Amino acid sequence: MKRFKKWGASLLAVSMTMLLTTACGGGASSTATPAPAPATGSTTGDAANKPTYNFKLAHITPPTHMWHLAAEKFKEELDQRSGGRMKLEIYPSSQLGTEADMVQQIASGSVDFGFITAAYLSSRAPSYAAWLAPYAFKDLDEANKARKEEVSKKILGTLEEQGLVGLDYFFAGQRVMLFKDKEVLKPEDMAGLKLRVTPSPPLTDFYTSAGAATEGLPLPEVYSAVQTGVIDGMDMDLDAAITNKYYEVVKYGAVTNHMVWPAVAMASKANFDKMPDEDKQIIRDAIDAAANFSATTRAGQEEEFKKTLSDNGMKMYEIDPALFAPYAKQFDEKYGPKDPLIQEFIDTFRK
Ligand code: BEZ
Repeated sequence: MKRFKKWGASLLAVSMTMLLTTACGGGASSTATPAPAPATGSTTGDAANKPTYNFKLAHITPPTHMWHLAAEKFKEELDQRSGGRMKLEIYPSSQLGTEADMVQQIASGSVDFGFITAAYLSSRAPSYAAWLAPYAFKDLDEANKARKEEVSKKILGTLEEQGLVGLDYFFAGQRVMLFKDKEVLKPEDMAGLKLRVTPSPPLTDFYTSAGAATEGLPLPEVYSAVQTGVIDGMDMDLDAAITNKYYEVVKYGAVTNHMVWPAVAMASKANFDKMPDEDKQIIRDAIDAAANFSATTRAGQEEEFKKTLSDNGMKMYEIDPALFAPYAKQFDEKYGPKDPLIQEFIDTFRK
């Protein structure tokens, strides 16, 4: 009996410690340390009693890409806004695996945040395909304002049932087309070419309807695929074309700006839901600041990026968007009826 009591007391102590840690928003990763917490486990009280966090964030791009710079900005904002209580470790370049792996880690709580492509998410939560509507926005500024619309927030909400909290969207340029050897001047010129797309049905549909064959490849596999001739070109953004040095292996760049390309900023629901409201708000405000930083900084880099690619030997040119209008219409006709949120998105933003 005595032995049982001793065990019981130890178990209670361990449980209390675990409770305090999780109550403060920490999973295995975000080691929330309740800085001398009161015996009740309450997270309120004076500043000294507020929880501290060591968060983890994962994303797919190299450290020179805007998504990473936005992650750095998020880190800085978290630190400042929380008075140093929130620290962030960033894992770029798919260090924690594919986007599928990252999302799984976020859902389980072993990673706290991710910036994940809407393209990948469209395979798990269908309404994300809305963001791949061709030519839905005139420019990044318009897309950045669209973050605040009701339908965009509703789409974020669809992640909840997967153990994820959709927080916001980051924009880092629109999509362009890069071609290895052929100067494509109109959609018909793509006939017979095999073009890389990020694996996602709306992207595949856009290119196949225009006459190209597609190969779904995640970002880390693209360079060698084009270098070895497995693909003849790719759907990409200018920033990624530079950070991944695709100018070494492709000759032509059509600045079509045919789609926006949001990173979806998401949090682990298991960890986020346990945080005090004040800390949730700090996170939301920090994300908002980072998202604005990303869209506005990137919007000012368009000319510089085109010049960098030209300086590195690529021929950069534009294709009249009107030539792609039939394929944008096909998207609306096919994807609008698939999901009410996609239809609402089209009705809200198509002008
Ligand atoms: C891509 O798959 O093309 C991509 C993913 C994330 C950022 C930029 C590009």
